[in-house]
This record gives sequence, structure tokens and C-alpha cells, in this order.
Amino acid sequence: MSAQAFRVAVLASGTGTNLQAILDTVHGQDGIEVGAVASDKPGAMALDRATDAGIAAECFPRDGFDSREERDGAMSEWLAEKEIHLVVLAGYMQLLSPSFIERWRDRIVNVHPALLPSFPGLDAIGQALDAGMEVTGVTVHFVDEGVDTGAPILQRPVPVPASRDRDELEDAVHATEHILLPEAIRLLASGRVSAERVDDALASKVDVEGTGVPFGELTAEAARAQGQRLTDVGTWGPLQRVAKVAHAWKLLAAQLEKEGRATVRDLPAADVIEHAERLWVLPPPEGLIEGVRG
Ligand code: GRF
Repeated sequence: MSAQAFRVAVLASGTGTNLQAILDTVHGQDGIEVGAVASDKPGAMALDRATDAGIAAECFPRDGFDSREERDGAMSEWLAEKEIHLVVLAGYMQLLSPSFIERWRDRIVNVHPALLPSFPGLDAIGQALDAGMEVTGVTVHFVDEGVDTGAPILQRPVPVPASRDRDELEDAVHATEHILLPEAIRLLASGRVSAERVDDALASKVDVEGTGVPFGELTAEAARAQGQRLTDVGTWGPLQRVAKVAHAWKLLAAQLEKEGRATVRDLPAADVIEHAERLWVLPPPEGLIEGVRG
């Protein structure tokens, strides 16, 4: 165990492609080490990936213990022995018991295949398709006692393909997860983001790929105009809104460039935000418009 390393544990139930992305892009870099991988599923491919990488791997199956609390207690002890700083849920399909969450509070994060708080729970991709969304996405968030309710750390939009083909959308969502989850781990390891400082992630880290536009400033500006902190804006997840505005900004930039018109930077923020509102097929959740626009 290297001195001072930021030690990450990954919990996974399935194939472990997110684990692999973490192993390939953050493990062994910038003082970050994956120190343990646990699963509830005997034979999960994630366990093989860990073993292949020389990382301690252990299975805690539900039927191997008298209760969920007991199973989670054993897992908690094992993670503590491994001197873990951060527990990453990457496709872990079990609810964690309250005592586990209490012990690791603010040190558990999850990746969810939707822009929370839209579509929490199972089959988030199917939920987004059924709801007729044009844009969905990925969220990395802190884990609390609720189902996908903890504070968001990073969110990124993923456009639903025109074909509305589920496999195509799943591939795009997974590819985004493989970038966003390692990025969140790096942010947490660096100490630039913590449970107390989620706000700081907004301005600096949620980005519009390819435009170089600091859109965090745009939404921060909108919030300031309302005399509110970004996290108080509306009842909607602030990062969801940022992600949506980012997507709108990107589309507008492409459109303006095609038409040979002024750059998107010349547009008033309100226009970009209005365009963003129109990208969602469903009406925004109640309270959003009041919260944002006063
Ligand atoms: C991911 O889509 C994650 O968001 C979901 O389960 C999937 C896990 O995939 N909860 P993998 O095991 O990392 O390949």
C-alpha cells in the first residue's frame, strides 16, 4: 500500500465496464489506487477484472448472511481493513443498509444513467425513452439513504438518437459514464470537491465539450440574477439544469456556425436558457420556472 494514496473501493454487480474504465484511467495515477473490489454476485465479471489487475476482490452474497445489515457490516469491516477513503458504486444493484451509509457518509458515490432527479431507480434508460425525452444523461452523485437522491457531483447530457434505438442510447450513456465517473473520482481525490463543496464543481467542471465555453458561469450568473445560490435554484437538480443549458449552448453554437452568424457568446444568457427549456419534451418539473425566473 503506498503511503498517502487516496484509496478507492469499487462495488459492482455486473460486467464491470465502469470498474475497467477506473482501472484504465485513474488507478495508479495522481496518488489514486483502487484498493478493493466487492460484489454481491458470485462470478461477477467485475471480480475477475479486479483479480486480473492484482486488486483484492471479495464477494458478499446476500444469501451468505442472515440479514442485509450483517452482510453490509462484514463488507464495511473488510473495506475499513483495506483503508479505503472512497466507496464507488459502479453498477452495484443492492440497496446499502443505513448503518453502512452512516459509517461511510459523504464517502460513497454512485453513477446513475440519467440526469437526476429525473428517472431514479431501475431501468433509467428505458424510463427516459418511454417518457419521450430528447436528452438524457449521466449523473455521479453522493449516496444517501434514498434511492438516487444524494447531492450531484457531475452531470453530463446524452442526446437520445433520432432512431430512439435502445442499444444505441445505452452505448452512448455507458461511454459517457466511463468518462464521468473517473473524472468525479479525480475531483474527489484532489480535494477540490467534497460533500461540503459540491457547488464548486459546477463552475469549474461541468463542461461543454468542444466549445471551450465556461457555461458554469452562465448558470451561476442566472442564479445570481435571482439572488440565489446555484444549489437553491428551483426544485430541479441544479446540475441537471446546467447540463441542459450546456447542451443547448452546444447545439446553438453549431447552428450559428452553420448559418455563418454571430457566435453563441454574443447571445444573451436568457436566450440560451430558453432554448434549453425547449429541448425537453416534457414540461419542466413544477417549481422550476418559478424558482429560476422569479
Ligand atoms: C451502468 O449503466 C450503471 O449506471 C448501472 O449499471 C451499469 C453497470 O455497468 N447502474 P458495468 O457493470 O459498469 O458495465
